[in-house]
Amino acid sequence: MRVQVGIIGAGPAGLMLARLLHLQGISSVVLESRSRPYVETRLRAGLLEQGSVDLINETGMGERLRQECLPHDGIELIFNGERHRVDMQALINRRVYIYGQQEMVKDMVAVNLAAGVPIEFEAEVRSFDGIDGDKPTIHYRQNGADHALACDYIAGCDGFHGVARRDFPQKGRQDYDCVYPFGWLGILVDAPPANHELLYCHHQRGFALFTMRSPKVSRLYLQVPPDEDENAWSDDRIWNEFRTRLGKHEGLEVSMGKITQKSVIEMRSYVTEPMRAERLFLAGDSAHIVPPTGAKGMNLAISDVYVLAKAFTAFYKRGATDLFDAYTQKCLRRVWGAQHFSWWMTSMLHTMPDASAFDVRRQIAELQTITGSVSGRKLLAENYAGLPIEM
Ligand code: APR
Ligand code: PHB
Repeated sequence: MRVQVGIIGAGPAGLMLARLLHLQGISSVVLESRSRPYVETRLRAGLLEQGSVDLINETGMGERLRQECLPHDGIELIFNGERHRVDMQALINRRVYIYGQQEMVKDMVAVNLAAGVPIEFEAEVRSFDGIDGDKPTIHYRQNGADHALACDYIAGCDGFHGVARRDFPQKGRQDYDCVYPFGWLGILVDAPPANHELLYCHHQRGFALFTMRSPKVSRLYLQVPPDEDENAWSDDRIWNEFRTRLGKHEGLEVSMGKITQKSVIEMRSYVTEPMRAERLFLAGDSAHIVPPTGAKGMNLAISDVYVLAKAFTAFYKRGATDLFDAYTQKCLRRVWGAQHFSWWMTSMLHTMPDASAFDVRRQIAELQTITGSVSGRKLLAENYAGLPIEM
């Protein structure tokens, strides 16, 4: 088997890339180590920027998204007993959309398969070679047998734990890493959201976030120690903590229900540079990780492959390689913008394990500064709603 682009990983990056290439008449095969049901139900964050939604619609993958997503014109920050709304629509005329990543993956898989783009599930990539020649090969294992996929180029869209990042050449490579001294306990609840918009709560005991998946399902997060065991959190303990961190506000109650999922999520910021080594390109989580506080992960995956697909198109249509050379720099501007924003939101809203009374008071002052001025709210809104898809 030989294709133009071999894609490792069927997450948002790999699936969007396969679609963009197909629309340009460029052949690809997607190799995914997990099963189709697994990737279609894996729980992840679920916030899409306008630029991502526009691209999903333009590529014909937005039919269910348009019907089922929850558009949000603003968010609320809660701290020091105060509620402050950041009205993105009024400030910058933009909004964001809540739609679970696994729902997006379901839609992307369906559209690609219907168009005849091959997605091989339970096909675990073990290694690749030849990226410095003109015939790279991807080696994978499926149904107990070894296979080789010959391609012109390899797109490593296999996330942080994949092989593309692991085996990316070391020469000239620089990794930037920041692991936070806390994690998030995430729960999924059969209960309507406490509020129609997201609530980001700063509290001395730790951060809390109230988000949602649908009008009947809430998604909630609590800052916890990084190595926390989710089983240490009984339902009573969880609800008490959410009530404390939300605080008392008229007309606002923690909305309780059956907890259907509970797990602890690691928080880290990470970038590897460059994102290309000869005929191997990294895109999405294989090249960078953001803490979920700004919900940028899926959006960065989509913007990387938008830039990458343009480079493949220029090459296959005109023989031009300048966009391959520009790939890393074109992505990194946006990646670092999102890194800074995610780190800033994280550090402004979370309580460090060794935080002093001064630190907490200073955070409240920062939140008051941001929410108390139009320019502060605008800065937050512009970054939250997303930088342009291509910078
Ligand atoms: N062979 C084949 N597939 C692999 C391998 C391998 N060796 N290793 C990992 N994969 C698959 C994973 O099973 C996963 O389905 O690669 C896929 C990578 O997808 P994501 O982790 O969703 O990464 P990406 O597409 O870059 O999307 C980033 O995902 O982690 C979230 O918050 C993050 O929202 C962001 C988004
Ligand atoms: C989510 O809905 O999972 C979500 C939303 C916003 C965030 C993080 C997670 O900042």
